[in-house]
Amino acid sequence: MTGEVLAAFARQFGLEAGQPRLFFAPGRVNLIGEHTDYNGGHVFPCALTMGTVCAARVRGDRRLRLLSLNFPDAGVVETDLDRTVPLPGECWANYVLGVVRAFAAEGLAPARGLDIAFYGDIPAGAGLSSSAALEVLTGTALRELFGFPVSPTQVALLGQRAENEFIGLSCGIMDQFASAMGRRGHAIFLDTATLEYAYAPLALDGAKLVIVNSMVKHALAGSAYNDRRRECARALEALRAVKPGLASLGALAPEEFDALAGAIPDEVCRRRARHAVYENARTRSAFDALQAGDLARFGALMNASHVSLRDDYAVSCPEVDTLAALAWETPGVLGSRITGGGFGGCTVSIVRDDAAADFAGTVAREYARKTGLTPQIYTVSAGDGARELKEETL
Ligand code: GLA
Repeated sequence: MTGEVLAAFARQFGLEAGQPRLFFAPGRVNLIGEHTDYNGGHVFPCALTMGTVCAARVRGDRRLRLLSLNFPDAGVVETDLDRTVPLPGECWANYVLGVVRAFAAEGLAPARGLDIAFYGDIPAGAGLSSSAALEVLTGTALRELFGFPVSPTQVALLGQRAENEFIGLSCGIMDQFASAMGRRGHAIFLDTATLEYAYAPLALDGAKLVIVNSMVKHALAGSAYNDRRRECARALEALRAVKPGLASLGALAPEEFDALAGAIPDEVCRRRARHAVYENARTRSAFDALQAGDLARFGALMNASHVSLRDDYAVSCPEVDTLAALAWETPGVLGSRITGGGFGGCTVSIVRDDAAADFAGTVAREYARKTGLTPQIYTVSAGDGARELKEETL
């Protein structure tokens, strides 16, 4: 991708004003801990080696010129540093502008404009965080190009702020954190209440991490996501009537939740909260299971996570349920679940090496037969977080 992005940069913006610098930010796959990150719970994602690169150069004036090879029809998006308002039509460049604005709001306003060309290989809208990668990539480029004193965690927080305030999606911190803080060969066990984290070696001895894209993308994902967040907030409010000072759903153990759940009058809110509490407990157990090398237990927790996301949290869809069910039926699959925000997107599965070829064949054939759709299947590994790419030049 770096070759393509550099060539596009040269074609569009020329090299007379100097060479651009290259940056990369990865997508992520969440192993377990779904819809817990805005509930003060734990998440367990890893960064991917798939991601987005950009070639960026500071300009002499205050213009911003942005090009994405993934959205060729949008052409070059031109605006300027003094006009960072959302562009109409869900323009891809809003993720970039949102980050510029979030930095400026923290007193980190770029002094000069930029020419930037982007190109990524994360499928969009598939639950693999192509948006977070774009935000973290922009933040990383701003930090390096202008020398802003921000840590990778702060870059992640500013990306989340862009998404919350500029895009209008009330997401948690998981995606941006994973993209900024990823480590090759490791998953990140993150406590979203404190931002304390630990890297766990992703030692899948004799097994692989396989992502299957259902190729289904639900248009209402954004509003339904915000609804879930509101339902959890209402459940927390109700629980505070019986447990004053309760910080978050993530602060409750399952047994305590079960004892208090009657205080949540609305059944839907109660089910959302139950998912958040139990998923948090599963995520903690999954971290222990991985450390202990107990992949069978890890897989069983993934399966339970899917069931809870399907039934209590209602963020799956028939196509993704079909993928999970196919995985569960296939010998050699240790666990499988929907990953990411939901309403379509991907499953993540742990598949024994000797079963991987069969798994891919069966899933591709049976999914097509049942839904008429052709899934995309990726065997992935955990990659490093966002960074400047120094070795590549034109
Ligand atoms: C999206 C959000 C994350 C997280 C997941 C669900 O990816 O961006 O913050 O809430 O959904 O786990």
